[in-house]
Amino acid sequence: MNICIVGTGYVGLVSAACFAEMGNHVWCVDVNPDVIKTLKEGKIHIFEPGLEDLVKRNYEDQRLFFTTSLKDGLDKARFVFITVGTPCSSDGSCDLRFVENVAREIGQTMTDSKIIVDKSTVPVGTADKVRSIVKAELEKRGLDLEFDVASNPEFLKEGDAVSDFMKPDRVVVGTEKKETCKEFETLYAPYARSREKLIFMGTRSAEMTKYAANCMLATKISFINEMASICELVGANVREVRLGIGSDHRIGYYFIYPGVGYGGSCFPKDVKALINTAKEVGARPELIEAVDSVNNRQKKMLSRKILDYFEPQGGVRGKTLAIWGLAFKANTDDMRESSALSIISELTEAGMKIKAFDPVAHIKAEEILRDNDLVEIVHNQYEVLEGANAVAVVTDWNQFRNPDFDKIKEALLAPVIFDGRNLYDPSYLGSNGFAYFSVGRRP
Ligand code: UGA
Repeated sequence: MNICIVGTGYVGLVSAACFAEMGNHVWCVDVNPDVIKTLKEGKIHIFEPGLEDLVKRNYEDQRLFFTTSLKDGLDKARFVFITVGTPCSSDGSCDLRFVENVAREIGQTMTDSKIIVDKSTVPVGTADKVRSIVKAELEKRGLDLEFDVASNPEFLKEGDAVSDFMKPDRVVVGTEKKETCKEFETLYAPYARSREKLIFMGTRSAEMTKYAANCMLATKISFINEMASICELVGANVREVRLGIGSDHRIGYYFIYPGVGYGGSCFPKDVKALINTAKEVGARPELIEAVDSVNNRQKKMLSRKILDYFEPQGGVRGKTLAIWGLAFKANTDDMRESSALSIISELTEAGMKIKAFDPVAHIKAEEILRDNDLVEIVHNQYEVLEGANAVAVVTDWNQFRNPDFDKIKEALLAPVIFDGRNLYDPSYLGSNGFAYFSVGRRP
């Protein structure tokens, strides 16, 4: 099949490479000439395990093409996927400017029948909006071309995006047209091998499904974080409680790991956007508002513990904290809405110096934090500890899971660990002379 993908960000590039890998011909369009140039050199501008090889191979085999011209991309394509950014406006609503611009351009450029697909996360009703924009542009040109606008939300996780695309739990397609369903069946047959994995529904339900899924997952995380806070106060251990509740099939073990709160480009934005949509239509989204506020509190949980610990020692001013992990989770260089940024901002405001290490996000971190004189990015996991008063583990990178505790002790001024991901065993650290603070477990 011939496919055009507009927007070579995270979702766009992963989808393009994975569609090409199954033999489709895919044209990737991006307005940024630098991005297209980099892609043509066989390099990618985002960090995602396995993606660079996939892009390079399919580009060399001429199944993947890169262009800045929407016309070139559209010409042969039957499917046109819109995968441009949908940033959050200051009021929490979703900014659709880029999606609308692409829709306008498609209407101004297309010369034959197309299936236009919204793949970016967009508010309910966007497919209808895109349809009217394309129709209006076609009318201006005096054309009456057949087209459909479908919704096919993406459920990729950063760090696992390629395998999530290749072996999806489900593929959701929203369309009102039977013929469109058939073409989607052909497109997704190599990925959604069993029929149950391909779920067809109305466009508005598909758009809502994406928000409902992310809000459900965010709710699980805020729920377990709230349980963790209560566990600490009543003397229970949240790790044990997680095992106890997760064994019930109706609850499950996944996405109930307590931590430093959820970050990234999806959950915080999507929870806020659904709150906004709900209010616009007169609903009272009390539960997801609470999910959002529990998360805001949780992002400050570790810095609160650090401030409380140093309070009797004259406070944090002039002291140094080493941080392990800046990305919002492991296996990504993404620092958007990362809890590390909230922790750094709160502690440097109180005068604490920060030395931070992240195996992958260090380059982005240097850029993002360059105006904060109290922050230094260090490129070695153990050197970052030298002369620090304590270390805080913020991202769950594998290389932090089983570290050399003797080396940690030697490098730090005092053996103090604040663990935002519950990576270590409190009794082991206690018996080895560490002061150890984690989430939902008493020191
Ligand atoms: C999320 C969803 O998991 C994907 O299904 C969805 O497609 C994607 O958003 C999107 O909307 O595009 P992602 O943001 O990549 O994916 O990251 P997750 O792995 O879901 O983690 C989100 C945050 O929750 C991270 O900060 C992570 O550390 C935190 N988390 C996750 C926890 O604190 N506890 C958990 O048990 C799980």
